[in-house]
Amino acid sequence: MSWLDDKAHEGLALIREVKKLDLYPHFRAFESGGLHTTIDGKGIVNFSSNDYLGLSTHPEVKRAAAAAVERFAVGLSSSRVQATTTAHIELEERLAKWFGFESCLLFTTGYQAMVGTLQALSDRQTTLVLDNLSHACILDGTFLAAGVPAQSPEVRYFNHNSVRSLERCLKTREREHAIVLMEGIYSLDGDRAPLSDFVEVCEKYDAVLLCDDAHGTGTLGRRGTGLAEETGMEGRVPLVISTFSKTFGGIGGILLGASDVVDFVKHNARSFLFSATLPVPVLAAASTILDMLEREGPALVQELHEKAAYMRKSLIELGFDLGKSDTHIMPVMCRDLRKALFMHTALLEKGVMMVPITYPGVKFGEERLRLNVTRGHSREDMDLALELLDRYGRAFGVQSGEELGPLEGLFAP
Ligand SMILES: Cc1ncc(COP(=O)(O)O)c(C=O)c1O
Repeated sequence: MSWLDDKAHEGLALIREVKKLDLYPHFRAFESGGLHTTIDGKGIVNFSSNDYLGLSTHPEVKRAAAAAVERFAVGLSSSRVQATTTAHIELEERLAKWFGFESCLLFTTGYQAMVGTLQALSDRQTTLVLDNLSHACILDGTFLAAGVPAQSPEVRYFNHNSVRSLERCLKTREREHAIVLMEGIYSLDGDRAPLSDFVEVCEKYDAVLLCDDAHGTGTLGRRGTGLAEETGMEGRVPLVISTFSKTFGGIGGILLGASDVVDFVKHNARSFLFSATLPVPVLAAASTILDMLEREGPALVQELHEKAAYMRKSLIELGFDLGKSDTHIMPVMCRDLRKALFMHTALLEKGVMMVPITYPGVKFGEERLRLNVTRGHSREDMDLALELLDRYGRAFGVQSGEELGPLEGLFAP
C-alpha cells in the first residue's frame, strides 16, 4: 500500500464506522427527479431539495428542455468564448430585466460565478470583507484571489449578519477599495441578512456590496426576485449572484450588475473562460420557469410562504428548535451527531427524506436535519413529515434535548 492508500483509509475512518451501523446518509440514489421520487423502489418525499417553487418537473419545463435537445443537442463542446448561442444571449437579457439590472452573465454553475467574479475583481488595492458563515463558493473565490501574488487582496471577516462588525472591518481596512460579501438567506440556518443596514454601511464606506441570493431567488420579494426586492433595496445592491440550481430547477450561475462591470468579469473570470458553456436544454428549462415567474410570480411565492408558515407553526407547536430560521428553510436542530443520523434513518424508512447536516458543514454540537419547505409539497406531505418528526424526535430526545445513552451494544446482534 502506498502512503496515498494509507491516507485515504485513515481519512475515511468515521465514514466506515457510520456505514457499518447502516447510518450513512449521503449519496442516496434517486430513481427519478422531483420532490416525490423513489429510493430502492420505495416512495419518498424529499424535504432537502432546493426546488423551492416545485417547478423542476413541470411538464412545460420538461417539454422545453426536450425541444432544445432537438435543436441544440445536449452540449456545445466548448466554452462560451466559442460556444455562445442566441439562447444564452436572450436569457441573459431577460434575466437582467427581471432582476432589475443593466446586465447579466450566465456561468455554468453558481459556484463558478462566485469564484470567477471574485478572482476577476480582486487586486492589491482591494479588501474582501466576508461574513464568517460564508458559503464555500465565497471562501474558495477569496482563497483563489488571495493565492495569486500579484492580485492578492486583503481579506477580513465580520461576525455573521452583524452590521457593527462589518462597519469595524470597513473602517479599519488597509486597502482603498472594498467588496462586501454576504448571502440573502443562509442555507444551513435559514436566516436572512439585514440587507438595508448592510447597504447603508457599504454606501457610507464606499464599499461594493455583493449579495449571493441563491436561496432568495424565487422565494423573497413579492415577485420573487430576492432579498433586495423584499427590503426595498432594489437599485442599491451593485452586484448579485444567483443560480439555476434552486428555484430554476437545473444548473447554472447568474451574475447581475452594471454593464461594464459584468463585461469586465466576462473577459477576466477564469471559471467562465476556461469551462464548458451551459447546455441549451438547461437554458430552455430556466427560461420556461422565468416565463412562469413573469406570469404568476406573486401567486407562486405567496403559496410557498403559506406552506412555510403552516410548517413553522406546526414544528414550533411540537417543540422543535428551528435555530435562527425565519424563512422557508427550517433546520430541525438535533445538536448531536447520533440524533441527526438516527432521525434521518428513521424518517427515510417511512418515506421522508431530510438530510443531516454535520461537521464540517456546521460546528460539532450544531448538527441538524435540513428541512426545506417548498411550494411543491402538499399538506399531506407536510403532515406526514410532522407526524414522523414528532414520533422519532420524542424517541431520540430531539425536542427535549436529553442526552442519548452510550452507543456500545445498541446494535449488537
Ligand atoms: C449560498 C449559495 N451560493 C452558491 C451556491 C452554488 O450554486 P451552484 O449549485 O449553482 O453551484 C450555493 C449552492 O449550494 C449556495 O447555497
